Amino acid sequence: MKEIETTLIKSHLTHQIRRKVLWPHKKQENCSINEDLLEETFHVGVFFNKEIVSIGTFIKTNNKVFESKYSQYRLRAMGTNKDYQKKSMGKQLILYAKKILIEKNVEILWCDARKKAIPFYQKLGFKTKGNYYKIPEIGLHKLMYLYL
Ligand SMILES: CC(C)(COP(=O)(O)OP(=O)(O)OC[C@H]1O[C@@H](n2cnc3c(N)ncnc32)[C@H](O)[C@@H]1OP(=O)(O)O)[C@@H](O)C(=O)NCCC(=O)NCCS
Repeated sequence: MKEIETTLIKSHLTHQIRRKVLWPHKKQENCSINEDLLEETFHVGVFFNKEIVSIGTFIKTNNKVFESKYSQYRLRAMGTNKDYQKKSMGKQLILYAKKILIEKNVEILWCDARKKAIPFYQKLGFKTKGNYYKIPEIGLHKLMYLYL
């Protein structure tokens, strides 16, 4: 029986997908980010038949575009293994994280969305804000946000 499980994971479990799907230009040892081990940071993984297929990291950080009275989290390094894309894995990940964020009384989830990923975030209710900006080695991005 095929089994899908969405759960909190340790940061090191994100590295393989980060490297393969998100940052192929980086080396494995550079696939951690400074905020990975902060107490308020959490990582979500979706497993298909015990294999990790989708990941996302949620970091307590304000974006000054939003009023600081709002409690904010940032989504970083969201990716689904190529073979599993468009199979609702990313959607399950976001829905799972939303519950956790709402329990923490977070009001805004924001991210720097890659141009290609904008339709994915829009399907999940995120809005865009402002113009495109370029992130070196990756490409065009837009700020996106979701009121929780
Ligand atoms: C963007 C990404 C994370 C989406 O993950 P995913 O697991 O494929 O997404 P899902 O299958 O859960 O998609 C949810 C919905 O968005 C839609 N969607 C996903 N990617 C899409 C795209 N590129 N264009 C249009 N619609 C898209 C799906 O069709 C689905 O719609 P539905 O609910 O009507 O069926 C994944 O494609 C990916 O890892 N891309 C490469 C890395 C990347 O760009 N990450 C984002 C960094 S900001």
